[in-house]
Amino acid sequence: MPDLSGLGSRQPRTPKDRLIFALDVDHYDDAERLVKLLAPEVGMFKVGPRLFAAAGAQVLSLIHHHQKEVFLDLKLHDIPESVAGAVREIARQRVAMFTVHGLGGPKMIRALLSELSQMTLIPGVQPPICLAVTVLTSHAESDLAALGFHEPLVDLVKRLGKLALDAGAGGLVASGHELSVLRPLAKDAVFVVPGIRGPNDAIGDQSRVMTAKEAIESGATWVVVGRPIRNAPDPVAAARRIVSDLESAKVPA
Ligand code: C5P
Repeated sequence: MPDLSGLGSRQPRTPKDRLIFALDVDHYDDAERLVKLLAPEVGMFKVGPRLFAAAGAQVLSLIHHHQKEVFLDLKLHDIPESVAGAVREIARQRVAMFTVHGLGGPKMIRALLSELSQMTLIPGVQPPICLAVTVLTSHAESDLAALGFHEPLVDLVKRLGKLALDAGAGGLVASGHELSVLRPLAKDAVFVVPGIRGPNDAIGDQSRVMTAKEAIESGATWVVVGRPIRNAPDPVAAARRIVSDLESAKVPA
């Protein structure tokens, strides 16, 4: 039975390992250009629904061909059996981490973990880490109230995070500003933090941002960066600036 606990060989060992590049493009050719360019500069590539719908399996092979791991960010949310089936296929594609919505509930998370635990994986291949998304950063408290959630946003984030981790999720996707309330929920949980900006980067649609160094010092295991690298005049230089910021971070004990 595969071991579903802990980071194992996925534990980031160098500052570069902690940088995940969000491959938010629509076409395989753009993905290929960016993966070739950035594979030596980053730790992992994040693939979202846009690119996965356009060229899923091909892009996963491309990333693996460049000896890099895949974070498949599809934010699954469906009945337990459907999500468990999707996760089985995701694991077969040798994905390192994937996301589900915490709102899918503990039953959904337990079902997918049970599916993973029954799979026979190639010896030496670790099962993927299940990450839960709590509240989308696009939701304001007024949007949540319209959906029937009347508690303060931070309480909802904490409640959904706790439910997901108690059900066995390996970690959470969270804003760097939420880590102080989320980290105490589980000792071994991993945290993936988007919304990373350098002092000179455009903030775009991100509302509460942090530098990469601040996120790691707040307890992030990985940081996810998209536009500040992709839209930079020199994406390699932009990635190197972030890695050098990460090099100066003191990783909390
Ligand atoms: O803003 P940036 O391009 O660095 O975003 C990288 C990733 O962060 C995106 O792929 C998206 O999944 C996530 N994101 C987010 N909240 C937003 C915008 C993007 O979590 N408001």
